[in-house]
Amino acid sequence: MQGSNIPNDIVPGLVPTMNQYGLMTKIFDIYTKKFIKYTLSLESEIHVAELGAAYGAVTQEIIRHNKKVKITVNDLDKRHLTVLQKKIKNQNNSIQIKPKIVIGRLPDGINFAENTFDAILAARVMQYLLPRDLIKALKKIRLWLKPKGKLFLVTKTPYIKMLSTFITTYERRKSRGDRWPGVIKDFNQRFNHDISISHIVPKFIHVFDPDILKRACIECGLIIEECSFINRKDLPLDIRLTGKEEVGLIAHKE
Ligand SMILES: C[S@@+](CC[C@H](N)C(=O)[O-])C[C@H]1O[C@@H](n2cnc3c(N)ncnc32)[C@H](O)[C@@H]1O
Repeated sequence: MQGSNIPNDIVPGLVPTMNQYGLMTKIFDIYTKKFIKYTLSLESEIHVAELGAAYGAVTQEIIRHNKKVKITVNDLDKRHLTVLQKKIKNQNNSIQIKPKIVIGRLPDGINFAENTFDAILAARVMQYLLPRDLIKALKKIRLWLKPKGKLFLVTKTPYIKMLSTFITTYERRKSRGDRWPGVIKDFNQRFNHDISISHIVPKFIHVFDPDILKRACIECGLIIEECSFINRKDLPLDIRLTGKEEVGLIAHKE
């Protein structure tokens, strides 16, 4: 599974990361689709970024359309981005776009100039940041966006099958006013080990619902356009629960 070849899908459309940070999903959720559509709809030469991209499925989808767009793709694991580079190299030469590869960990390990991006996607990556780093990352992202530039976020919620025993704790913490009810420090130990992805999850995870994710973005000076649960009925049964498996958010910088 290591090296510069992409690992096999664990189930069709879901690819394990090489560093136990879950799965890259090639089955795009509605907010990721909106990011792609938005990027492809912009007329002038634009610059977008995919953060925590793993093997860069979204970047590849944008490149496939071969529009004049500058893409920066980031992940903390060099191996993931090497797979992406190799894939692009092997593709048809008519593809003109070469993404800029930036290896580093949000929030402290990457930096861009102020007002760089027209749009940023961070799908299923903020869930690996503890509150202080999450806030730092959102503030940095706000700086990196151009005025009116948009942030597209997707994160996991507590409403997934592997966290079903945590839901009451989450709701209790939230109702007593905890600012970050979704921090789970022993995520890898909570698994029922029959679940097919238990061996590729990190030690801790930070899950959200729309209220908490919106509040974090507002605190960091972003203006919310939309935010909702995402019903992942397209994901395997051992992830799905009640149609609130992920939360998506679109915000912009004033
Ligand atoms: C669950 S995968 C998501 C991949 C892709 N964005 C998707 O939604 O399919 C999480 C990815 O984020 C990367 N990652 C985790 N924490 C990160 C951080 N703090 N900064 C940058 N990348 C990070 C991991 O290496 C992994 O490739």
